[in-house]
Amino acid sequence: MNLFYFETLESTNLFAKKNIEKFDDKSIIYCDFQTNGRGRFDRKWLSNKKDNIFLSFILKPHYNNVLNLPIVNLTQYLCVVLAKVFESYNVKPQIKWPNDILINEHKISGILAECIWKEKDFKGLVLGVGVNLNYEKEDFVNIEQKATSLNLEIGQKINRDEFLKKLVDEFFKNYDEFMQVGFPLIKKEYVKRFLYLNCEICVNILNNKIIGKIKTINDDGTIDIIEKETLCVRRVNIGDLTC
Ligand code: BTN
Repeated sequence: MNLFYFETLESTNLFAKKNIEKFDDKSIIYCDFQTNGRGRFDRKWLSNKKDNIFLSFILKPHYNNVLNLPIVNLTQYLCVVLAKVFESYNVKPQIKWPNDILINEHKISGILAECIWKEKDFKGLVLGVGVNLNYEKEDFVNIEQKATSLNLEIGQKINRDEFLKKLVDEFFKNYDEFMQVGFPLIKKEYVKRFLYLNCEICVNILNNKIIGKIKTINDDGTIDIIEKETLCVRRVNIGDLTC
């Protein structure tokens, strides 16, 4: 495992994507500032302050069929990893399906996974993670979603490098096993911190919307929703969840 530090990048994901062939499996790119930090659905990710986590894992797993790689599950694995790191600071992280971490229903961390192809060749995965470690409340005024930062939760400045070391160590502790076993390895840990079970939610999937109650999390990491209108069970494997 190798760590590569930069002061400023446009985005660690973008840099990792562009240069993926130059990096080995299990490389880590991180920086102090991003000028164009991006989240899921091309949302902007606040990246203008030092002492926060802007990091991308470059992963080149072995596979028989690339389509069977557990990419969404890998983001769920990273969620559990993050949750454990947060707990070492005595806060109570909640997992919002599929891969957001909230504290008191305020977002503190997000994950952006991207598959990199060059024509028909699969080059690897870039698993980007942003963690709010050191912000002031005012920094979030223009952010759509309710957000928080670890320093605001525990009332003291967070050492970025200490958090980063914990995150990387915890990630690689069970990574190889996870790639073999998949979601069942972490299901219990994931469910334990899962928010909105039996709650009415709305999932946006491309141009579709499902409103209903989350009934269960399955062994493959998908969720079953009982649709409000039809009372039918709808299995969902990807989407954007709102309440
Ligand atoms: C989300 O919640 O929508 C995902 C946010 C992911 C942000 C991280 S910060 C490091 C990496 N580089 C990016 O441009 N995005 C990810």
